[in-house]
Amino acid sequence: MATDEITLHRGLSGVYFDRTETTFIDGREGKLLYRGYNIHELADASTFEETSYLLMYGELPTQAELDDFDATLKANRNIPPEVTGIIHAVKDDHPMSVLRTAVSALSAFDPESEDNSSEATLRKGIRLTSQVPTIVMAHHNIRNGREPVPPTENLNHASNFLYMMDGEEPTPETAALMDTDFVLHADHGSNASAFTARAVASTNADLHDAVTAGIAALSGPSHGGAAENVMTMAMEIGEPENAEKYVKDLLASGGRVMGFGHRVYRAEDPRARHLRDGVRDLSAEKGEPKWYAILEAVQKAMSPYARRGIHVNVDFFAGVIYYLNGIPHDLFVPIFAVGRIPGWTVQVIEQFEHNILIRPLLQYAGPEERSYTPISER
Ligand SMILES: CC(C)(COP(=O)(O)OP(=O)(O)OC[C@H]1O[C@@H](n2cnc3c(N)ncnc32)[C@H](O)[C@@H]1OP(=O)(O)O)[C@@H](O)C(=O)NCCC(=O)NCCS
Repeated sequence: MATDEITLHRGLSGVYFDRTETTFIDGREGKLLYRGYNIHELADASTFEETSYLLMYGELPTQAELDDFDATLKANRNIPPEVTGIIHAVKDDHPMSVLRTAVSALSAFDPESEDNSSEATLRKGIRLTSQVPTIVMAHHNIRNGREPVPPTENLNHASNFLYMMDGEEPTPETAALMDTDFVLHADHGSNASAFTARAVASTNADLHDAVTAGIAALSGPSHGGAAENVMTMAMEIGEPENAEKYVKDLLASGGRVMGFGHRVYRAEDPRARHLRDGVRDLSAEKGEPKWYAILEAVQKAMSPYARRGIHVNVDFFAGVIYYLNGIPHDLFVPIFAVGRIPGWTVQVIEQFEHNILIRPLLQYAGPEERSYTPISER
């Protein structure tokens, strides 16, 4: 069968499919900017609330704008009781599946679910930013046979998230680390989940549809699941002195070291360093310094791979931080989703504002044209 000359870009690797004004990534240098601001400055000086405003509105807020935005976030933390009922009904599923189902259900209760204007999509994105943490922690309590801890307006986004886990207010240090984690995860170009969200939005489906699909894409181990797998790996290694052999055996059997490698970065993921110090400090504070030592030992064992552009990514340190904060392994990916709602929202708005249906092509590699055989003759 005749086909035109085709250049295949499997996995769309290296393919630019649109423009964005939101996030800049230089994979060779290991550079990440949100709206022109370096992730290092934001991780050190900003908060999740301020960074979300920056992503969603394009500029850093004044104090009055930030106060107003923060008040809106706080006022939207509750979820409808019907959605809590749905969480009860599906409570035995993986937390990412429960989150996907609950976000999908939220659309039925959102007053602007049919409105795809930028203004309405932004308002929906702000509501989702507030509601997703509540869903994750409501499910955590429900599956453990407890009543959900209602959100409080007295705490910031990160503290309220941890508070809803067990009704205990986190220490300022723990809350600050969670806040940094959310800042680092707020957006990251056209990764699989953002691309999925954009593809859904390109059909003029709405933000809840796009975020539901984004959550589905994020749930896989090649994307959001790595932090969970890093913690499993650290536990299997058990002690720092076992790390070198573990890594050697894993690579010899064709396995991949979780928390290493990235489709875009050939240098170290710039987000990793902000969590590295967090793991070091937190594991010392909790009297469990071996976790930091294990990660250090894995990094050392992987150092020959740096020449091939395989470095640590953000997930390498995130999992241990969550673990040391008493968060169960299967909530690690939902935490990623909690941080990513602003990024998905702003990318969906960008998609709507310059919309074109995302519809690439597949090169046919099946049988030549052939005649249909009636079933009696097969
Ligand atoms: C993230 C990831 C899927 C990106 O993959 P990719 O861009 O498609 O790169 P490839 O799968 O083509 O890998 C390129 C080469 O590097 C190797 N490589 C990539 N990541 C590796 C890892 N974590 N451990 C060991 N080797 C790795 C591959 O084996 C491959 O080697 P080869 O050329 O000899 O076959 C991949 O690095 C990975 O699976 N990492 C572990 C999971 C993870 O941490 N994900 C979180 C990402 S933020």
